[in-house]
Amino acid sequence: MEKLLIKGGKSLSGKISCSGAKNAALPMIAATILSDEKVILKNLPYLQDITTMFELLGSMGSEILLDENMDFTICSSNLQDIEARYELVKTMRASILVLGPLLAKYGKARIALPGGCAIGSRPVNFHLDALKQLGATISLRNGYIEASAEKLKGTNIKFDGITVTGTENLMMAASLATGTTILTNVAKEPEIADLADMLNSMGSDIQGAGTDKIIINGVDKLTGTTFDIPADRIEAGTYLAAAAVTKGNITIEGINPNRLMRVIEKLQNSGANIDCQENSISINMSLESPHPVDITTAPFPEFPTDMQAQFSVINAISSGTSNIYETVFENRFMHILELNRMGCDIEVKGNHAKINGVKSLYGAQVMATDLRASASLILAGLCANGETVVDRIYHIDRGYERIEEKLNYLGADIIRLPS
Ligand code: EPU
Repeated sequence: MEKLLIKGGKSLSGKISCSGAKNAALPMIAATILSDEKVILKNLPYLQDITTMFELLGSMGSEILLDENMDFTICSSNLQDIEARYELVKTMRASILVLGPLLAKYGKARIALPGGCAIGSRPVNFHLDALKQLGATISLRNGYIEASAEKLKGTNIKFDGITVTGTENLMMAASLATGTTILTNVAKEPEIADLADMLNSMGSDIQGAGTDKIIINGVDKLTGTTFDIPADRIEAGTYLAAAAVTKGNITIEGINPNRLMRVIEKLQNSGANIDCQENSISINMSLESPHPVDITTAPFPEFPTDMQAQFSVINAISSGTSNIYETVFENRFMHILELNRMGCDIEVKGNHAKINGVKSLYGAQVMATDLRASASLILAGLCANGETVVDRIYHIDRGYERIEEKLNYLGADIIRLPS
């Protein structure tokens, strides 16, 4: 297994640009199933999760072409197989995103039931309950979700809990249902509005995405489109946090700051100077130690759970004590045990982490457990004294494009060690 060797203590400086957003791209790739025409996706990030999504569509019969501009053309007019097999679903839970499109377009789907994962049990009951309300028949058999529907019918659906991919699945399914669907208690993440923009460019009639209530007037069919994947707000936030822990001075280009308002506020509370332009964010951290900042994760527009692990590192080297409450996932503190092996002083009880800031961290051999946990270990390695080796970095390759290249460009010293 490849590892990253990080020589800590270098301050980051310079400019980098943001890659396309993984969590916007995954539902958009699934949405191509809804049309018989070609869909061109631009600015797709080169990530393992994107490859897995293409593998899934390819296994069902989609044609996928990559051209010289690195744009992907996807044509799903001729799917022979409507199954997402366990081998793929177990490596990427976002495979559930093909359920809504398959049901709406082909009237049936067979998707391996995702199990638990490193950050919690992550059930899909909200997706299934909502699809049943659209008229789908759903049963669970031999570890698979088996779903069918003659024709989905629009109705009013209030989600039992806020779910990002659940909201996306329903927006896609309702696009080809008869009549009007009104979704409430929905997720408001920017990626929801991005998906609605893409679907509307294919002929859907979706209003209100990004707010509490989404109204979808079903249409008979969707066309092809050409769509640019927007920038990855969590990637941008991770590099801003990397600058904050290394007393850095960097600019991230290609990102709309409105997508990161809570993260920016918390960075400012930690003592960083932030300058936001329409399409870039600059950070300058001149404090010897950041101020501690309390954080409670919650659905957008509140502080994102996907930035919690990175802020654990900022707080770990801060000048005082702070509290982090994780309210979205039940088990998203796996990185803390590894961070403590690098000299952090963090105590976890349930969904609460109490962090006592320490003067400095030291390098160690550590193991990544999930995507954002790996990002936090890299951040800790960047600011630690000595060398850190991060093992199991396949987690990081799922969601950060060329991370060591981008960080080295900013002055870090990271080497990828072969298996
Ligand atoms: N939940 C249920 N039942 C459901 C669906 C969700 O109980 O049917 C619970 C989950 O167990 C969790 C909470 O609701 O406790 C929120 O889960 P949600 O469904 O919103 O998460 P998701 O859609 O599976 C997406 C992102 C995650 C991100 C979360 C929260 C994608 C592909 N994934 O997951 O991204 O953390 O929303 O913002 O969009 C990551 O990029 O590292 C990542 C994990």
